[in-house]
Amino acid sequence: MFNLMKSNMNQIVLLEKIHGNAAALLTEQGFTDVREIGSALSDADLIDALQHASAVGIRSRTHMSATVLDALPNLRTIACFCIGTNQVDLHAACMRGIPVFNAPFSNTRSVAELVIAQAILLLRRIPEKNAMAHRGQWDKDAQGAYEVRNKVVGIIGYGNIGAQVGILAESVGMRVCYFDVDNKLPLGNAQSMSTLDALLRHADVVTLHVPGEAATENIINQERLACMKPSAVLINASRGNVVEIAALDVALRQKKIAGAAIDVFPTEPGNQHEEFISPLRGLDNVILTPHIGGSTEEAQENIGREVADKIARFLRAGTTRSAVNFPEIAYLPKHARHRILHIHRNEPGVIAQMNAAFAAEGLNIVAQQLQTQADIGYAMTDVDTPITDALMTQLRGSPATIRCDYL
Ligand code: NAI
Repeated sequence: MFNLMKSNMNQIVLLEKIHGNAAALLTEQGFTDVREIGSALSDADLIDALQHASAVGIRSRTHMSATVLDALPNLRTIACFCIGTNQVDLHAACMRGIPVFNAPFSNTRSVAELVIAQAILLLRRIPEKNAMAHRGQWDKDAQGAYEVRNKVVGIIGYGNIGAQVGILAESVGMRVCYFDVDNKLPLGNAQSMSTLDALLRHADVVTLHVPGEAATENIINQERLACMKPSAVLINASRGNVVEIAALDVALRQKKIAGAAIDVFPTEPGNQHEEFISPLRGLDNVILTPHIGGSTEEAQENIGREVADKIARFLRAGTTRSAVNFPEIAYLPKHARHRILHIHRNEPGVIAQMNAAFAAEGLNIVAQQLQTQADIGYAMTDVDTPITDALMTQLRGSPATIRCDYL
């Protein structure tokens, strides 16, 4: 009989001070070997620490390169307890049969709340009043200070965060319009705008919630800023490269727009010891924050739970739902005592060969699911007869097999 690795025997290593509720959830779920390491590690130390790990939990500072992955044959999954996954070589992980998970939605509310707060502060000209008070000046003038009630917020990118901003904005009496490249269902009384320029002309508060990619680079530039009302304000808590900072700097200094709140920048310091450099420093009508739109205790707690649950589901049942680099198989209750997870190159005949091997061993397939994505396929097969060493050796030895495990 093949030496069955019980799923609660899997070692899970959590690095970089991941919220304690991740380890707590995994322990509650019966995983008995959960280790926590408070920092990121160098490649050599990482390889050493993960030699027996089936799963690793990381944040943004741990780099999982192809070289590191090559030295970790036991590693079955990487869980990023954050939104970004560019610290992991996703393709290399995929081609080694390792699904990567993250927490795309856990901090949505935190970003949306900050945006509403910034809208209120900017329309009231609080950043300027605050800066003046710090300098000993007492400016009680109401000119140019507005309530947000009945003002228009224009949301660029009506996805998870943008839509949530719209809901919160309506709850404080704002009118909501949005522009999205996709056809999005409006929530509440939100109105879709046919063009970005139409939104810019209409809105009192313009807020960006698009992904950072080539198509969104500098979508707010000199021409677009010129479309905005002089009394309007701009908020960017999406990605640093969507606003052309030099153009924004000019627009703010020349009072072409009334203010801005910027949380993300084209170049951000790598750590707290590096100086933050930006032409916007020192402008009284600008709120600058160090990429903390989603950084709240609640978001960290949510991330801890959301990602730990993904590790548990994968190790227990092979579920890859919402993996960022892998064919997705949603949760399937086990239909039989044994489940085989077969990850293979996406080429013709692999499933036929695998099933022929099952038949030759007299295994009856109780349930089977296959999903493919570009280069790889992922097949989950439930069988009711114990799996033999010979069968696993055969499946693992097939040239198309990337990885084969069973639960
Ligand atoms: P999402 O993927 O749910 O929504 C993005 C939306 O933008 C989609 O509806 C998409 O169709 C739309 N879009 C794409 N290109 C567009 C374009 N050129 N014009 C108009 N709409 C366009 O993303 P989610 O979760 O709402 O995140 C939005 C942004 O917020 C991302 O860039 C994300 O990285 C960033 N973010 C920032 C945080 C912070 O700490 N400041 C925290 C969390 C997310």
